[in-house]
Amino acid sequence: MASAVRLLGWAARRLVGKAGSMSFAGTMSMLSDNSLFPLFRNGLDPVAKVGELREQSPVSRLPVPLGIRAWLVTGYEPVRAVLGSTDGFSNDFGKFAARVGLAAGQQPGGLGMADPPMHTRLRRMIMPEFTMHKLARLQPRIEAIVNDRLDAMARTAGPVDLWQEFALPVPALTICELLGVPYADREFVQRVSTARFDLGDGAFAPLDAINESRAYLRDLVATQRRKPGDGLLGSLIRDHGDELDDQELSGLADGVLTGGLETSASMLALGALVLMTQPGLADPLRAGEPADALVEELLRYLTVVQVAFPRFAIRDMEIAGVPIKAGDVVMCSLIAADRDAVLGPGMDEINADRRTAKSHLAFGHGLHRCVGAELARMELRIAYPALIRRFPAMRPAVDPATLKMRRASIVFGLESLPVTLS
Ligand code: HEM
Repeated sequence: MASAVRLLGWAARRLVGKAGSMSFAGTMSMLSDNSLFPLFRNGLDPVAKVGELREQSPVSRLPVPLGIRAWLVTGYEPVRAVLGSTDGFSNDFGKFAARVGLAAGQQPGGLGMADPPMHTRLRRMIMPEFTMHKLARLQPRIEAIVNDRLDAMARTAGPVDLWQEFALPVPALTICELLGVPYADREFVQRVSTARFDLGDGAFAPLDAINESRAYLRDLVATQRRKPGDGLLGSLIRDHGDELDDQELSGLADGVLTGGLETSASMLALGALVLMTQPGLADPLRAGEPADALVEELLRYLTVVQVAFPRFAIRDMEIAGVPIKAGDVVMCSLIAADRDAVLGPGMDEINADRRTAKSHLAFGHGLHRCVGAELARMELRIAYPALIRRFPAMRPAVDPATLKMRRASIVFGLESLPVTLS
């Protein structure tokens, strides 16, 4: 069960099946390593088979149960073609689940699994909250959050778990700020946000935390209906309160929390690991140079969202010459696309001086491209330099080869990152 929950990341968290019928999570637990290999890594790299497929058959069959025809797309151009298609694919898992006899559970709302026109309508409402102008308001708050965490770490004697003490709380508290979670509740939100990723208390503990956080968001929506706050939820209620029901509002908030937390946290932890272990890479940050180019290269190199949400073909078509039938499931490997040689030579290496003409796909592409991309960039551009400058001698407290990486998880990441600060 635990591996199924982690396997489909956002999706499995939202789609818990009913007893008596085959659940989505249950189905996923039936997948063998033969179908899960796009989610495996060798260290920080995708496994060799992913690269081989990209060279030989960038659109290839992926074996999955229940007679579902599924495809894995690994080439940069075909992945862009799928994600950029405006009329070829649906993201609506609910509709697909009903067709193949899965229990999709309650439709949670949110953007990632919505199709136009609902997707267009919700996205138009939420996008104004992510403009550079609105995000500029958050910048000093993110700086303060980062500095608070660094102060807390500096007070700790002995090795620190950078994942628990920095990588998770920074985006958790940033999202609290963005959504307008009252200060009194932030400790709770941070606790449940962290518990989502903690399997130490048993396989079902993350589900409890997810349910707790959903219940909290539903209450927050009800409270803000009465008195809209300063954050994203308050703005949505003020500007669109009559057009959105509570389910849609808490679904949007949950989408922002789940979409923005694990992803940014993984980028912070894995990026810090790369900065600590690749000789010379962090030197420009120590020297006070801007982090922008390095952040882009880390986003590309790590591409933590390994595959995009499943796309369901709504008509017969060809992708890179391969016939796809209406109803087929298409999985796009973003990490494979971001290591494709069409972006330039040596894409399996990290190179902060790299300038590629084509943009990476770490934030996806097209209709469902990440709404939080600029916020994530802002967090990373603030957090990496602050971390490196505060603890210039920071290093892994264990042999990096022994670090536990999440296995077969849509969002690739570490389970912990013990570091020695000085
Ligand atoms: C480094 C951090 C992040 C990465 C790598 C990332 C990656 C992605 C990717 C690849 C997608 C597209 C998935 C697809 O097309 O199937 C996506 C969508 C999304 N992301 Fe992010 N994300 C990050 C941070 C954030 C943040 C900070 C937020 C919000 C605060 C956020 C909210 C969302 C939402 C709501 C969607 C769905 C958009 C839609 O379907 O229209 N993400 N993200």
